Amino acid sequence: MSSSRIDSLLAEMTLAEKIGQLCQVQPHGRDQEDLVRAGGAGSLINVVGDDAYHYQWLAVEHSRLRIPLLLGRDVIHGFSTVFPIPLGQAASFDPPSVREAAATAARQAAGAGVNWTFSPMLDVVRDPRWGRVAESFGEDPLLASRLGVAMVEGYQGEGVAACAKHFVGYGAAQGGRDYSETAIPPRQLHEVYLPPFEAAVAAGALTVMTGFNDLDGLPMSGHAPLVQGLLKDRWGFDGLVVSDWNSITEMAVHGTAADASECARQSIVAGLDMEMASSSWRHHLEALLERGAVSPQRLDDAVRRVLRVKERLGLFETPYGRSRPAETPATAAFQARQLARRSCVLLENHALLPLGENVGRVAVVGPLADAGHDQLGCWVFDADHGATHSVLAGIRERLGDRRVSFERGLDRCRSDDEHGFQAALDAARSADVVVLCIGEDAGLSGEAHCRAFIELPGAQQRLLDQLAATGVPVVAVVFTGRPLALGAVADKARALLLAWHPGSLGGPAIADLLFGESPSGRLPMTLPRSVGQIPLYYNHKNTGRPPDPDSPRVPSGTPLDPSGFFAAYLDEDHRPQYPFGYGLGYTRFEYADLELTPNVLAPGGTLAASFTLRNVGARAGTEVVQLYVQDLVASVTRPVRELKDFRRVSLEAGESRRIEFELRGEQLAFRGLEGERIVEPGRFRLWLAAHSQTGLSAEFEYAERIADPVGQRDEAPTEEVPAELP
Ligand code: NOJ
Repeated sequence: MSSSRIDSLLAEMTLAEKIGQLCQVQPHGRDQEDLVRAGGAGSLINVVGDDAYHYQWLAVEHSRLRIPLLLGRDVIHGFSTVFPIPLGQAASFDPPSVREAAATAARQAAGAGVNWTFSPMLDVVRDPRWGRVAESFGEDPLLASRLGVAMVEGYQGEGVAACAKHFVGYGAAQGGRDYSETAIPPRQLHEVYLPPFEAAVAAGALTVMTGFNDLDGLPMSGHAPLVQGLLKDRWGFDGLVVSDWNSITEMAVHGTAADASECARQSIVAGLDMEMASSSWRHHLEALLERGAVSPQRLDDAVRRVLRVKERLGLFETPYGRSRPAETPATAAFQARQLARRSCVLLENHALLPLGENVGRVAVVGPLADAGHDQLGCWVFDADHGATHSVLAGIRERLGDRRVSFERGLDRCRSDDEHGFQAALDAARSADVVVLCIGEDAGLSGEAHCRAFIELPGAQQRLLDQLAATGVPVVAVVFTGRPLALGAVADKARALLLAWHPGSLGGPAIADLLFGESPSGRLPMTLPRSVGQIPLYYNHKNTGRPPDPDSPRVPSGTPLDPSGFFAAYLDEDHRPQYPFGYGLGYTRFEYADLELTPNVLAPGGTLAASFTLRNVGARAGTEVVQLYVQDLVASVTRPVRELKDFRRVSLEAGESRRIEFELRGEQLAFRGLEGERIVEPGRFRLWLAAHSQTGLSAEFEYAERIADPVGQRDEAPTEEVPAELP
């Protein structure tokens, strides 16, 4: 799509001004004023507030062509109000709440001059050691797609450009080490890692960021087949592709380019449109154009894309942002508290929760019970720290000071210094219940913050063990940026609530749950028993020798079972500690009377899967109903289950409701042997389930082969420099 404004700007621009549009710089102080005045930057990163408005003013009032700036910032899970980390948001299985949170974050960010956020992160992750799992929506492509789309809509509805990142495969970093190489077979790439990006592009995401990783030998910032070929040519993405921080010049470190000039050439030819941080384009594009190594058409296409994003954001008319109603902090706080409540996953509850207001005395213990900064998690540059409410504050607000005692036990999560244990044990002994807040501090996840072990750090497990030995019941509230191995915590705690890093209102939200509201979060990632099981994910293949799903095969302390060879371990259970989709509440739901109509699905048709959901407990609650499918016989091996749909359903005690999902043939598509998307006729199994290892199930048939059901073939690398987009 072209516009007359963009055409006439392009006709007027000098080469230096064109190249300038493709450069994103981070000013230090106000040291890039001249560059902006000269039209030498299309975008700035990390300028907010007065500085952001100042630079925008320089660009639109004092540069020759008055082209506004894209002002980019990592607004990852909130701005001044911090929402749960994205992994926590994913546990809500609640796209509308995620959309609202993104909209609020966008309004707050826009109020500080920001018009571009580097979010959502759509990397599917199967390895909890990777620090950036905190920024992800977990292990499932459908969940990541739905929530990614919700975030894109939330941001862009408020005039802030979203950025789908990191294209693609960055989440498969080997060994969970950030920036490590990735090797993803094409079928897995297309079925697991690409779908969230395709969904975000279809939803109109204005920008995409390439990853730091090299994928099967090619760094993503030089990956023509996937950036130019798939993203732009096949999917028709007409927004801009930005590199990651220095990821263009890092191609020389990867070893696929000899110098900065070659990095510049490879990246722009691969389809990137803007360089973040490094300056190889500023220094080398002119010479590359002169010697014909980069075509003027590719240059103009990149400039057009940058201008198009600015135009779509309305920056030519309202460079300082649309005038918006002032954000009311109370609304943001309400949303943050609600989303935090919906994000927490209750993993264990042995007749302890909810506590009820008449609980008596509560000992609040642990290094994270009153750690405002740590409960926010990673990427919170703009957080209003004064507006953070801890668990201690949340419980005191309910019970008053007199009934609540507080001891940290450990100063920090990672500390091995047990000198505070005694005071914590004393507090426990004079209380009726202990609320123990443990887990990971904010600095243990996020970019370049990976772990080799996924148990509680420091002496926290010993603190729990000793508290449990007092006989006073312990509720463990675990804060974390990643799935942890929580078996030893489950063994000692009477109740276990996984709170992730829940954000500004995490404390009151957790108090809401401890004292009555039924938790409704569900795991967006499998929780392994130990690091040795990684990678462990629900949508794996069956293999030719599947282990018994109901047996650990090698119960601890017994001799090896010699009866067969299975896809399992000699020295560890093959089953997860808690499966994907799992989570408890304060009531129980029963699933009954599954019906499929018709039970033969024809192309173009839909199948209705319905069942009765009954709240058979004594309290109101919310169930996250999950629809899974398995293709029982296909030309390639298919996962044992794939999530195809989900829905949050709230029922009063004793209430029942008929729930219906519709399934269409295209939802059964996979990548066939020729690289095409197909649905093959045959038998399928469907589950309506509370999590990925349970459910009511029935078989149905799909009648007829559809090749390419969504009108696209995947793959198709292209080396060609694109013609200008129509
Ligand atoms: C590097 C990170 O990988 C990316 O996610 C982030 O948006 C940029 N830096 C900008 O801060």
